[in-house]
Amino acid sequence: MKNKNFFIKSFGCQMNEYDSNKIVQLMNSIEYDQTDNPDEAECFIFNTCHIREKANQKVYSDIGKIKKNFRFKKKPIFVLAGCVAQAESNIVFEKSDYIDIVVGPQSYHKLPELINSFKSNKKKIVNTDLDVDEKFSVLDQFKHYKSKVSNFITIQEGCDKFCKFCVVPYTRGPEFSRSSESIIQEVSKLSATGTKEIILLGQNVSSYNYRDTSLAKLINMISENPEIERIRFTTSHPNDFDEELINMFGENEKLMPQIHLPAQSGSDKILKYMNRNYTKKKYLDLIAKFLSINPNIEFSSDFIVGYPGETEDDFNETLDLIHQVKFSTSYSFIYSQRPGTPAVNQDQLSPEVCENRLKILQDALFDYQLAFNTQRVGKIEKVLFENLTQNGEQFFGRNEHMIPVFTKKDGINSGDIKKVVIKDCNKNNLFGILA
Ligand code: SAH
Ligand code: SF4
Ligand code: F3S
Repeated sequence: MKNKNFFIKSFGCQMNEYDSNKIVQLMNSIEYDQTDNPDEAECFIFNTCHIREKANQKVYSDIGKIKKNFRFKKKPIFVLAGCVAQAESNIVFEKSDYIDIVVGPQSYHKLPELINSFKSNKKKIVNTDLDVDEKFSVLDQFKHYKSKVSNFITIQEGCDKFCKFCVVPYTRGPEFSRSSESIIQEVSKLSATGTKEIILLGQNVSSYNYRDTSLAKLINMISENPEIERIRFTTSHPNDFDEELINMFGENEKLMPQIHLPAQSGSDKILKYMNRNYTKKKYLDLIAKFLSINPNIEFSSDFIVGYPGETEDDFNETLDLIHQVKFSTSYSFIYSQRPGTPAVNQDQLSPEVCENRLKILQDALFDYQLAFNTQRVGKIEKVLFENLTQNGEQFFGRNEHMIPVFTKKDGINSGDIKKVVIKDCNKNNLFGILA
Protein backbone atom coordinates (compact mmCIF):
# COMPACT_ATOMS: atom_id res chain seq x y z
CA MET A 1 0.00 0.00 0.00
CA LYS A 2 1.16 3.52 -0.82
CA ASN A 3 2.41 5.57 2.13
CA LYS A 4 0.47 8.67 3.15
CA ASN A 5 1.92 12.16 2.74
CA PHE A 6 2.54 14.75 5.41
CA PHE A 7 3.63 18.37 5.23
CA ILE A 8 5.66 19.92 8.05
CA LYS A 9 6.35 23.59 8.64
CA SER A 10 8.82 24.82 11.23
CA PHE A 11 8.51 28.24 12.85
CA GLY A 12 10.92 29.89 15.31
CA CYS A 13 14.34 28.84 16.48
CA GLN A 14 16.93 26.24 15.51
CA MET A 15 15.71 23.93 18.26
CA ASN A 16 12.40 23.70 16.44
CA GLU A 17 14.26 22.97 13.21
CA TYR A 18 16.08 20.13 14.95
CA ASP A 19 12.80 18.82 16.39
CA SER A 20 11.13 18.99 12.96
CA ASN A 21 13.84 16.75 11.50
CA LYS A 22 13.18 14.25 14.27
CA ILE A 23 9.43 14.48 13.63
CA VAL A 24 10.08 13.55 9.98
CA GLN A 25 11.83 10.36 11.18
CA LEU A 26 8.97 9.57 13.56
CA MET A 27 6.41 10.02 10.79
CA ASN A 28 8.41 7.83 8.42
CA SER A 29 8.20 5.08 11.04
CA ILE A 30 4.38 5.05 10.68
CA GLU A 31 4.46 5.10 6.89
CA TYR A 32 4.04 8.79 6.24
CA ASP A 33 6.33 10.37 3.63
CA GLN A 34 7.25 14.03 3.78
CA THR A 35 5.91 16.12 0.90
CA ASP A 36 6.90 19.64 -0.15
CA ASN A 37 3.54 20.11 -1.79
CA PRO A 38 0.91 21.23 0.75
CA ASP A 39 -1.90 20.56 -1.75
CA GLU A 40 -1.36 16.81 -1.63
CA ALA A 41 -0.82 16.41 2.14
CA GLU A 42 -3.05 14.10 4.17
CA CYS A 43 -1.53 15.36 7.40
CA PHE A 44 -0.13 18.76 8.41
CA ILE A 45 2.29 19.37 11.25
CA PHE A 46 3.05 22.92 12.36
CA ASN A 47 6.02 23.09 14.72
CA THR A 48 5.29 26.47 16.24
CA CYS A 49 6.95 29.39 18.04
CA HIS A 50 5.45 31.53 20.80
CA ILE A 51 8.33 33.91 21.48
CA ARG A 52 6.68 37.10 20.14
CA GLU A 53 3.06 37.89 19.35
CA LYS A 54 3.75 38.03 15.61
CA ALA A 55 5.18 34.49 15.63
CA ASN A 56 2.00 33.27 17.33
CA GLN A 57 -0.34 35.14 14.95
CA LYS A 58 1.49 33.75 11.92
CA VAL A 59 0.70 30.20 13.04
CA TYR A 60 -3.05 30.82 13.19
CA SER A 61 -3.16 32.80 9.94
CA ASP A 62 -1.30 29.95 8.18
CA ILE A 63 -3.79 27.43 9.60
CA GLY A 64 -6.59 29.61 8.15
CA LYS A 65 -4.96 29.43 4.70
CA ILE A 66 -4.81 25.63 4.80
CA LYS A 67 -8.41 25.41 5.93
CA LYS A 68 -9.44 27.56 2.96
CA ASN A 69 -7.33 25.50 0.56
CA PHE A 70 -8.92 22.24 1.64
CA ARG A 71 -12.52 23.43 1.87
CA PHE A 72 -13.65 21.23 -1.06
CA LYS A 73 -11.31 18.35 -0.26
CA LYS A 74 -11.03 15.68 2.45
CA LYS A 75 -9.85 17.36 5.65
CA PRO A 76 -6.23 16.49 6.45
CA ILE A 77 -5.21 15.58 10.02
CA PHE A 78 -3.85 18.75 11.60
CA VAL A 79 -1.13 18.57 14.28
CA LEU A 80 -0.14 21.63 16.27
CA ALA A 81 3.30 20.97 17.76
CA GLY A 82 5.93 23.17 19.45
CA CYS A 83 5.80 26.14 21.78
CA VAL A 84 2.35 27.56 20.87
CA ALA A 85 0.93 24.09 21.48
CA GLN A 86 2.56 23.96 24.91
CA ALA A 87 1.62 27.51 25.93
CA GLU A 88 -1.94 27.58 24.61
CA SER A 89 -3.01 23.96 24.95
CA ASN A 90 -6.17 25.00 26.82
CA ILE A 91 -7.36 27.48 24.17
CA VAL A 92 -6.09 26.17 20.81
CA PHE A 93 -9.34 24.44 19.89
CA GLU A 94 -11.21 27.68 20.57
CA LYS A 95 -8.75 29.59 18.40
CA SER A 96 -8.98 27.07 15.55
CA ASP A 97 -11.34 24.13 15.29
CA TYR A 98 -9.19 22.84 12.42
CA ILE A 99 -6.59 21.46 14.87
CA ASP A 100 -6.88 17.76 15.76
CA ILE A 101 -3.78 16.95 17.79
CA VAL A 102 -1.82 19.23 20.15
CA VAL A 103 1.63 18.05 21.15
CA GLY A 104 4.32 19.92 23.10
CA PRO A 105 8.08 20.24 22.45
CA GLN A 106 8.89 17.61 25.08
CA SER A 107 6.28 15.06 24.07
CA TYR A 108 6.36 14.96 20.25
CA HIS A 109 8.07 11.55 20.34
CA LYS A 110 4.57 10.22 21.08
CA LEU A 111 3.23 11.48 17.74
CA PRO A 112 3.07 8.02 16.06
CA GLU A 113 0.73 6.67 18.76
CA LEU A 114 -1.26 9.94 18.93
CA ILE A 115 -1.85 9.95 15.18
CA ASN A 116 -2.86 6.29 15.17
CA SER A 117 -5.20 6.88 18.08
CA PHE A 118 -6.79 9.90 16.34
CA LYS A 119 -7.27 7.88 13.17
CA SER A 120 -9.11 5.13 15.02
CA ASN A 121 -11.42 7.18 17.27
CA LYS A 122 -11.41 10.70 15.71
CA LYS A 123 -11.23 12.35 19.13
CA LYS A 124 -9.13 15.51 19.47
CA ILE A 125 -5.98 14.94 21.55
CA VAL A 126 -3.76 17.15 23.75
CA ASN A 127 -0.43 15.87 25.04
CA THR A 128 1.89 18.41 26.65
CA ASP A 129 3.82 16.16 29.06
CA LEU A 130 7.35 17.24 29.97
CA ASP A 131 9.06 13.91 29.29
CA VAL A 132 12.44 15.11 28.04
CA ASP A 133 14.39 12.06 29.21
CA GLU A 134 11.94 9.69 27.56
CA LYS A 135 11.92 11.85 24.43
CA PHE A 136 15.67 11.52 23.85
CA SER A 137 15.69 7.79 24.55
CA VAL A 138 12.98 7.30 21.91
CA LEU A 139 14.77 9.56 19.40
CA ASP A 140 18.07 7.72 19.96
CA GLN A 141 16.58 4.60 18.42
CA PHE A 142 16.42 6.11 14.94
CA LYS A 143 19.24 5.14 12.63
CA HIS A 144 18.53 7.10 9.49
CA TYR A 145 19.66 10.68 9.33
CA LYS A 146 19.16 13.12 6.53
CA SER A 147 22.66 14.36 7.12
CA LYS A 148 24.17 17.65 6.01
CA VAL A 149 27.68 19.11 6.21
CA SER A 150 26.56 21.22 9.15
CA ASN A 151 24.08 19.77 11.63
CA PHE A 152 22.38 20.92 14.80
CA ILE A 153 22.26 18.68 17.86
CA THR A 154 20.07 19.63 20.80
CA ILE A 155 22.02 18.94 24.00
CA GLN A 156 20.05 20.96 26.51
CA GLU A 157 16.41 21.87 26.84
CA GLY A 158 14.42 24.38 28.82
CA CYS A 159 15.35 27.29 31.01
CA ASP A 160 15.37 28.16 34.73
CA LYS A 161 16.32 31.81 34.30
CA PHE A 162 12.86 33.36 34.01
CA CYS A 163 13.73 36.62 32.28
CA LYS A 164 10.59 38.66 32.80
CA PHE A 165 9.70 39.02 29.12
CA CYS A 166 10.23 35.43 28.02
CA VAL A 167 7.94 32.44 27.46
CA VAL A 168 10.64 29.79 27.09
CA PRO A 169 10.66 28.57 30.72
CA TYR A 170 6.93 27.90 30.31
CA THR A 171 7.02 26.39 26.81
CA ARG A 172 10.14 24.23 27.08
CA GLY A 173 10.00 23.53 30.79
CA PRO A 174 12.85 23.37 33.31
CA GLU A 175 16.52 22.97 32.36
CA PHE A 176 17.49 19.49 31.30
CA SER A 177 20.87 18.23 30.03
CA ARG A 178 20.83 15.30 27.66
CA SER A 179 23.17 12.39 28.35
CA SER A 180 26.66 12.81 26.89
CA GLU A 181 26.60 9.21 25.59
CA SER A 182 23.46 9.92 23.61
CA ILE A 183 25.01 13.11 22.15
CA ILE A 184 28.29 11.41 21.22
CA GLN A 185 26.32 8.59 19.59
CA GLU A 186 24.41 11.13 17.51
CA VAL A 187 27.65 12.87 16.50
CA SER A 188 29.06 9.49 15.33
CA LYS A 189 25.95 8.72 13.28
CA LEU A 190 26.12 12.12 11.63
CA SER A 191 29.88 12.08 10.99
CA ALA A 192 29.54 8.66 9.34
CA THR A 193 27.29 10.28 6.74
CA GLY A 194 29.45 13.31 5.95
CA THR A 195 28.80 15.87 8.70
CA LYS A 196 31.79 18.11 9.34
CA GLU A 197 30.30 20.74 11.62
CA ILE A 198 28.22 20.28 14.77
CA ILE A 199 26.21 23.15 16.25
CA LEU A 200 25.22 22.30 19.81
CA LEU A 201 21.83 23.71 20.72
CA GLY A 202 20.11 24.70 23.92
CA GLN A 203 18.21 27.67 25.31
CA ASN A 204 21.01 27.94 27.86
CA VAL A 205 23.59 25.75 26.24
CA SER A 206 26.53 26.90 28.38
CA SER A 207 24.79 25.67 31.52
CA TYR A 208 24.93 22.12 30.08
CA ASN A 209 25.94 19.65 32.78
CA TYR A 210 25.37 15.92 32.68
CA ARG A 211 26.88 13.90 35.56
CA ASP A 212 29.91 16.22 35.76
CA THR A 213 30.31 16.49 32.01
CA SER A 214 30.34 20.25 31.41
CA LEU A 215 29.91 21.87 28.00
CA ALA A 216 33.71 22.31 27.79
CA LYS A 217 34.27 18.59 28.43
CA LEU A 218 31.55 17.68 25.94
CA ILE A 219 33.20 19.84 23.27
CA ASN A 220 36.52 18.06 23.89
CA MET A 221 34.79 14.69 23.62
CA ILE A 222 33.16 15.65 20.31
CA SER A 223 36.39 17.03 18.90
CA GLU A 224 38.02 13.61 19.32
CA ASN A 225 35.92 12.48 16.35
CA PRO A 226 38.39 12.95 13.44
CA GLU A 227 35.61 13.64 10.90
CA ILE A 228 34.28 16.63 12.84
CA GLU A 229 36.18 19.76 11.85
CA ARG A 230 34.12 22.50 13.42
CA ILE A 231 32.08 22.85 16.61
CA ARG A 232 29.83 25.73 17.64
CA PHE A 233 27.20 26.22 20.33
CA THR A 234 24.23 28.48 20.79
CA THR A 235 22.56 30.17 22.73
CA SER A 236 24.51 31.13 25.81
CA HIS A 237 23.49 33.34 28.67
CA PRO A 238 26.29 35.77 29.65
CA ASN A 239 26.19 34.51 33.24
CA ASP A 240 26.95 30.88 32.45
CA PHE A 241 30.54 31.08 31.21
CA ASP A 242 33.09 29.66 33.64
CA GLU A 243 36.90 29.76 33.23
CA GLU A 244 36.96 26.24 31.77
CA LEU A 245 34.55 27.18 28.98
CA ILE A 246 36.17 30.56 28.27
CA ASN A 247 39.61 28.93 28.05
CA MET A 248 38.30 26.45 25.47
CA PHE A 249 38.38 29.26 22.91
CA GLY A 250 42.16 29.33 23.25
CA GLU A 251 42.67 25.58 23.54
CA ASN A 252 40.37 23.69 21.21
CA GLU A 253 41.00 24.54 17.57
CA LYS A 254 37.78 22.91 16.42
CA LEU A 255 35.73 25.33 18.53
CA MET A 256 35.03 28.22 16.15
CA PRO A 257 35.83 31.81 17.24
CA GLN A 258 32.27 33.08 17.13
CA ILE A 259 29.99 33.51 20.12
CA HIS A 260 26.30 34.38 20.19
CA LEU A 261 25.87 36.28 23.43
CA PRO A 262 22.45 37.91 23.79
CA ALA A 263 22.80 41.24 25.62
CA GLN A 264 19.11 42.36 25.32
CA SER A 265 19.96 45.83 26.67
CA GLY A 266 22.91 47.99 27.67
CA SER A 267 21.09 49.73 30.52
CA ASP A 268 21.69 48.35 34.01
CA LYS A 269 18.25 49.52 35.05
CA ILE A 270 16.52 47.66 32.20
CA LEU A 271 18.70 44.57 32.66
CA LYS A 272 17.55 44.53 36.26
CA TYR A 273 13.88 44.96 35.26
CA MET A 274 14.35 42.06 32.84
CA ASN A 275 15.89 39.85 35.54
CA ARG A 276 18.99 39.27 33.42
CA ASN A 277 21.28 39.33 36.48
CA TYR A 278 24.24 41.06 34.87
CA THR A 279 25.29 44.65 34.28
CA LYS A 280 26.65 46.32 31.18
CA LYS A 281 30.11 46.31 32.80
CA LYS A 282 29.92 42.58 33.54
CA TYR A 283 28.93 41.92 29.92
CA LEU A 284 31.80 44.07 28.59
CA ASP A 285 34.27 42.44 31.01
CA LEU A 286 33.23 39.04 29.67
CA ILE A 287 33.83 40.20 26.09
CA ALA A 288 37.28 41.51 27.12
CA LYS A 289 38.10 38.19 28.77
CA PHE A 290 37.21 36.25 25.63
CA LEU A 291 39.33 38.57 23.53
CA SER A 292 42.31 38.17 25.87
CA ILE A 293 42.08 34.40 25.32
CA ASN A 294 41.59 34.67 21.55
CA PRO A 295 41.56 38.08 19.80
CA ASN A 296 40.03 36.51 16.68
CA ILE A 297 36.66 35.92 18.40
CA GLU A 298 33.67 37.79 16.98
CA PHE A 299 30.36 38.31 18.76
CA SER A 300 26.75 38.35 17.75
CA SER A 301 23.82 39.28 19.94
CA ASP A 302 20.07 39.72 20.50
CA PHE A 303 18.50 43.02 21.56
CA ILE A 304 15.06 44.04 22.76
CA VAL A 305 14.02 47.68 22.36
CA GLY A 306 11.06 49.38 24.01
CA TYR A 307 11.06 47.27 27.16
CA PRO A 308 8.63 48.76 29.73
CA GLY A 309 10.42 51.61 31.53
CA GLU A 310 13.11 52.12 28.84
CA THR A 311 13.97 55.84 28.65
CA GLU A 312 15.98 57.62 25.97
CA ASP A 313 19.03 57.38 28.28
CA ASP A 314 18.54 53.63 28.73
CA PHE A 315 18.28 53.20 24.99
CA ASN A 316 21.48 55.22 24.51
CA GLU A 317 23.26 52.84 26.89
CA THR A 318 22.31 50.00 24.53
CA LEU A 319 23.66 51.95 21.56
CA ASP A 320 26.86 52.60 23.50
CA LEU A 321 27.25 48.85 24.14
CA ILE A 322 26.88 48.24 20.40
CA HIS A 323 29.53 50.89 19.64
CA GLN A 324 31.91 49.29 22.14
CA VAL A 325 31.54 45.64 21.03
CA LYS A 326 30.95 46.15 17.27
CA PHE A 327 28.94 42.95 16.82
CA SER A 328 29.41 41.04 13.56
CA THR A 329 25.71 40.11 13.31
CA SER A 330 22.70 40.58 15.57
CA TYR A 331 18.98 40.09 15.91
CA SER A 332 16.83 42.87 17.32
CA PHE A 333 13.19 42.99 18.28
CA ILE A 334 10.60 45.35 19.64
CA TYR A 335 9.45 44.13 23.05
CA SER A 336 6.36 41.96 22.67
CA GLN A 337 3.97 41.42 25.58
CA ARG A 338 3.63 37.71 26.27
CA PRO A 339 0.69 36.26 28.18
CA GLY A 340 1.74 34.58 31.40
CA THR A 341 5.10 36.37 31.73
CA PRO A 342 5.77 38.76 34.66
CA ALA A 343 6.36 41.80 32.42
CA VAL A 344 2.95 41.56 30.79
CA ASN A 345 1.21 44.01 33.13
CA GLN A 346 3.80 46.79 32.88
CA ASP A 347 3.00 50.06 31.11
CA GLN A 348 3.94 49.82 27.45
CA LEU A 349 5.94 52.32 25.41
CA SER A 350 4.20 53.77 22.36
CA PRO A 351 4.64 51.85 19.06
CA GLU A 352 6.15 55.00 17.45
CA VAL A 353 8.90 55.24 20.09
CA CYS A 354 9.62 51.50 19.75
CA GLU A 355 9.77 51.58 15.95
CA ASN A 356 11.96 54.65 15.96
CA ARG A 357 14.39 53.08 18.44
CA LEU A 358 14.47 49.80 16.51
CA LYS A 359 15.40 51.67 13.34
CA ILE A 360 18.22 53.58 15.05
CA LEU A 361 19.51 50.38 16.69
CA GLN A 362 19.37 48.35 13.48
CA ASP A 363 21.11 51.08 11.49
CA ALA A 364 23.98 50.96 14.00
CA LEU A 365 24.09 47.14 13.98
CA PHE A 366 23.97 46.94 10.17
CA ASP A 367 26.76 49.52 9.84
CA TYR A 368 29.04 47.32 11.97
CA GLN A 369 27.92 44.22 10.11
CA LEU A 370 28.84 45.78 6.76
CA ALA A 371 32.10 47.17 8.17
CA PHE A 372 32.96 43.70 9.50
CA ASN A 373 32.40 42.10 6.08
CA THR A 374 34.16 44.93 4.25
CA GLN A 375 37.30 44.37 6.36
CA ARG A 376 37.39 40.83 4.97
CA VAL A 377 37.68 41.93 1.32
CA GLY A 378 41.20 41.13 0.04
CA LYS A 379 41.81 38.66 2.88
CA ILE A 380 41.88 34.85 2.89
CA GLU A 381 39.11 33.00 4.74
CA LYS A 382 38.87 29.30 5.59
CA VAL A 383 35.52 28.16 4.25
CA LEU A 384 33.62 24.97 5.00
CA PHE A 385 31.59 24.32 1.85
CA GLU A 386 28.06 23.02 2.35
CA ASN A 387 26.07 22.90 -0.90
CA LEU A 388 25.50 24.28 -4.38
CA THR A 389 23.27 27.34 -4.63
CA GLN A 390 19.76 26.87 -5.98
CA ASN A 391 20.68 27.75 -9.58
CA GLY A 392 23.53 25.21 -9.37
CA GLU A 393 26.17 27.73 -10.40
CA GLN A 394 27.90 28.61 -7.15
CA PHE A 395 29.01 26.87 -3.97
CA PHE A 396 27.83 28.07 -0.58
CA GLY A 397 29.91 27.74 2.58
CA ARG A 398 30.68 29.58 5.80
CA ASN A 399 33.85 31.10 7.17
CA GLU A 400 35.01 30.53 10.75
CA HIS A 401 32.82 33.41 11.91
CA MET A 402 29.69 31.84 10.36
CA ILE A 403 29.43 34.43 7.56
CA PRO A 404 28.06 32.94 4.30
CA VAL A 405 30.65 32.80 1.51
CA PHE A 406 29.85 32.21 -2.18
CA THR A 407 32.36 31.11 -4.86
CA LYS A 408 32.33 29.50 -8.31
CA LYS A 409 31.54 25.82 -7.95
CA ASP A 410 34.53 24.41 -9.88
CA GLY A 411 36.85 22.18 -7.85
CA ILE A 412 34.66 22.15 -4.74
CA ASN A 413 32.83 19.27 -3.04
CA SER A 414 30.44 19.38 -0.09
CA GLY A 415 32.41 19.08 3.13
CA ASP A 416 35.65 20.57 1.75
CA ILE A 417 37.43 23.21 3.79
CA LYS A 418 39.25 25.51 1.40
CA LYS A 419 40.96 28.86 1.47
CA VAL A 420 39.06 31.59 -0.35
CA VAL A 421 40.24 35.08 -1.31
CA ILE A 422 37.38 37.46 -0.60
CA LYS A 423 36.70 39.79 -3.53
CA ASP A 424 33.44 41.47 -2.58
CA CYS A 425 30.78 41.62 0.08
CA ASN A 426 27.44 42.98 1.15
CA LYS A 427 25.86 43.25 4.59
CA ASN A 428 25.13 39.53 4.84
CA ASN A 429 27.52 37.71 2.51
CA LEU A 430 31.09 37.42 1.27
CA PHE A 431 31.99 36.59 -2.35
CA GLY A 432 35.35 35.13 -3.37
CA ILE A 433 37.53 32.80 -5.43
CA LEU A 434 39.57 29.79 -4.35
CA ALA A 435 43.05 30.83 -3.17
N1 SAH B 1 18.09 32.01 25.80
C1 SAH B 1 18.41 33.12 25.03
C2 SAH B 1 17.25 33.70 24.24
C3 SAH B 1 16.23 32.84 23.61
S1 SAH B 1 14.85 33.65 22.90
C4 SAH B 1 18.96 34.23 25.96
O1 SAH B 1 18.88 34.13 27.13
O2 SAH B 1 19.36 35.24 25.51
C5 SAH B 1 15.59 34.50 21.54
C6 SAH B 1 15.48 35.99 21.59
O3 SAH B 1 14.14 36.42 21.42
C7 SAH B 1 15.91 36.61 22.89
O4 SAH B 1 17.28 36.73 23.01
C8 SAH B 1 15.21 37.95 22.87
O5 SAH B 1 16.03 38.94 22.28
C9 SAH B 1 13.99 37.69 21.99
N2 SAH B 1 12.77 37.71 22.80
C10 SAH B 1 12.38 36.82 23.73
N3 SAH B 1 11.20 37.20 24.29
C11 SAH B 1 10.85 38.35 23.69
C12 SAH B 1 9.75 39.25 23.84
N4 SAH B 1 8.79 39.04 24.74
N5 SAH B 1 9.71 40.34 23.04
C13 SAH B 1 10.68 40.59 22.15
N6 SAH B 1 11.73 39.78 21.96
C14 SAH B 1 11.83 38.68 22.72
FE1 SF4 C 1 14.23 33.26 27.87
FE2 SF4 C 1 16.85 33.09 27.49
FE3 SF4 C 1 15.89 34.37 29.60
FE4 SF4 C 1 15.70 31.75 29.47
S1 SF4 C 1 17.62 32.95 29.60
S2 SF4 C 1 14.12 33.14 30.13
S3 SF4 C 1 15.38 31.44 27.28
S4 SF4 C 1 15.64 34.95 27.42
FE1 F3S D 1 10.12 30.00 19.70
FE2 F3S D 1 9.96 27.96 21.32
FE3 F3S D 1 12.20 28.44 20.03
S1 F3S D 1 9.07 29.94 21.65
S2 F3S D 1 12.20 30.65 19.85
S3 F3S D 1 10.28 27.89 19.10
S4 F3S D 1 12.02 27.65 22.10
